[in-house]
Amino acid sequence: MATLLPRDPAVVAPGAVHIPGWLNLDRQRELVTACRDWASGPVPMRHTRMPNGSQMSVQTVCLGWHWMPYRYSRTADDVDGGPVADFPSWLAELGRDAVGAAYGARDESYNPDAALINFYDASAKMGMHQDKEEKSLAPVVSLSIGDSCLFRFGNTENRNKPWTDVRLESGDLFVFGGESRLAYHGVMKTYPGTSDPALGLEGRLNITLRVTGL
Ligand code: SIN
Ligand code: MN
Repeated sequence: MATLLPRDPAVVAPGAVHIPGWLNLDRQRELVTACRDWASGPVPMRHTRMPNGSQMSVQTVCLGWHWMPYRYSRTADDVDGGPVADFPSWLAELGRDAVGAAYGARDESYNPDAALINFYDASAKMGMHQDKEEKSLAPVVSLSIGDSCLFRFGNTENRNKPWTDVRLESGDLFVFGGESRLAYHGVMKTYPGTSDPALGLEGRLNITLRVTGL
């Protein structure tokens, strides 16, 4: 179908690639089902408490390694101390496909071992930050499902400009590696009600796959 505003794959910054509509609807539905399952435990999805006592507006559950400010652990030390759910091999395979799609060459050695599943309700957002608790500089794979959002991809120096604003929609892939691996990024807002009703998901899910190097 012709569209007035085609969403083409774009290199947003060196090493940072946006591929709109990379996941088809069936794949998105499978991931929604999987996320519901992961959210229910063994470690429940919850708002991460920050060192200053505030809570993140997103809700998070992890696979493989549990992220907390500002380290990874095999146990959810800031929730219930429970063991983190396994990182499934099919998700690592999806990660290899994603990196291959973004960079045009599949890298069999790409082996993500941690996933952060973030759920955004209508008012959730995420401030500008770097993903830097990983000891590896392998790319981060980000998959978005449900409501669209305004994703801000900045520079590696600080939270300020220059940045590029990208609308991430359901099914979109965003990979950041190479020179952009440590770029600041954040979610300024979501667009409530933009999720495809066929997904049965109110809100936004984002799954990031990372190589912890731990
Ligand atoms: C993150 O930075 O970990 C999440 C980004 C997103 O929700 O798109
Ligand atoms: Mn991040």
